[in-house]
Amino acid sequence: MDLKKVFENNESWIKKQLAISENYFDDLGKGQKPELLYVGCSDSRVTAEDLMGLGPGEVFVHRNIANMVISIDLNVMSVVNYAVDHLKVNHIVVCGHYGCGGVKAAMQSADLGILNPWLRNIRDVYRIHKLELNSIECEEKRYDRLVELNVKEQCVNLIKTAAVQKAYRDRGLTVHGWVFDVHTGKLIDLKIDFEKYLHDIMEIYHLD
Ligand code: CO
Repeated sequence: MDLKKVFENNESWIKKQLAISENYFDDLGKGQKPELLYVGCSDSRVTAEDLMGLGPGEVFVHRNIANMVISIDLNVMSVVNYAVDHLKVNHIVVCGHYGCGGVKAAMQSADLGILNPWLRNIRDVYRIHKLELNSIECEEKRYDRLVELNVKEQCVNLIKTAAVQKAYRDRGLTVHGWVFDVHTGKLIDLKIDFEKYLHDIMEIYHLD
């Protein structure tokens, strides 16, 4: 890839945005007020704004390998706290995707070095849902299901945070689990029952 092309693309993009509104960048420079926090995978095919049809300023984005919400990861926890406490987003989305390399790696027996502790969290998801997953004979279907269950468990991890519990109580913030199908481009809502999960875990994880 010729990186010069990137800067040419940038110039054309500026022209395009200014053609829509001549104040476009003046407005953008004034600040952000996104209503949505998106936690997705770093996979180059799963572009947050493009697949949702949203533009600059509309979504606060965090991406990492396999869209994980890990309680001791200072990066994701800082993003969640900033988005919830300061930007006051009212929706948090965890978006996984079929064909996720991180989830696939966690299904295999291999020493992947520094990735081991990261992928361990996906192996934990497998262990929690072992009965269901092992009953699926087709490996491809089992892989797809682990992608979905991983999204669900990362939503639960969000619900375990004090920031989310407090924002739910104070202003009705909700958490959503979605999957992007890279084969069709379709965004699928897993219809995570946020209130049920919140109720289920509160006995042990109630913080606020
Ligand atoms: Co992925």
